[in-house]
Amino acid sequence: MGLSREDVRQVYRKRAALYDLTSNLYVLAGFRLPTYRRRAVEALALERGDTVVDIGCGTGLNIALLRRAVGTEGWVVGVDLTDRMLDQARGKVRRCGWRNVDLVRCDATQYRFPSPLHGVLSTFAITLIPEYAQVIRNAAEALEPGRRLVLLDLKRASGWPEWTFRLGVWLTRGFGVTVEAAERRPWEAMAACLENVRMEELYGGWAYLCWGEAPQYRVGGRKGGESC
Ligand SMILES: C[S@@+](CC[C@H](N)C(=O)[O-])C[C@H]1O[C@@H](n2cnc3c(N)ncnc32)[C@H](O)[C@@H]1O
Repeated sequence: MGLSREDVRQVYRKRAALYDLTSNLYVLAGFRLPTYRRRAVEALALERGDTVVDIGCGTGLNIALLRRAVGTEGWVVGVDLTDRMLDQARGKVRRCGWRNVDLVRCDATQYRFPSPLHGVLSTFAITLIPEYAQVIRNAAEALEPGRRLVLLDLKRASGWPEWTFRLGVWLTRGFGVTVEAAERRPWEAMAACLENVRMEELYGGWAYLCWGEAPQYRVGGRKGGESC
């Protein structure tokens, strides 16, 4: 079973203060986290002045990269379920004096994306959301035509024995990862509602970067607000 929303929130409330330190420890196992983050932001193909939303932004480890991409005239919105993770992100924003960052406490499934929207990123968060397909669909509908949704996350690598998968889940269980969550396939939901979806496996197939573009033409369309 995947964890309930409340369980996930409790996991991250406990982790928040040391999240940056503990998540970066995976670098010691060759997991090139800073490089993967940089490549995920590059895959968004943002321009100066754009508005970008980071779903499950946590402590805000992507904010500096996103700000660099959209410039001071752009806008970065971080959305997260967990108050204490957002407190950490707010601390970063305050210390750095960033004025074009908005942090929203909200369940991603309930979030109404701003308009116009030029990019959506989610790093190591989408597989924790049981209704990930709905979040992806909402993002695809809210994005301006041709603009991108980018996911960076862990996944089950193919061709490895079952025990290696179980070990991987065990090693990441402290971050709310369960067998059920690790078997989710968000890239399939992306392929259902975005165009030019491409995927690159990272870390021997145990992680991936996936990006796709909002359709150029669609019937109807939805313009959302900015709150939860
Ligand atoms: C592993 S952390 C990733 C944080 C950040 N994106 C990063 O790359 O470091 C997962 C984050 O997803 C958030 N999260 C989990 N379920 C969520 C949901 N339904 N809506 C919004 N955020 C959620 C958690 O609160 C947590 O901050």
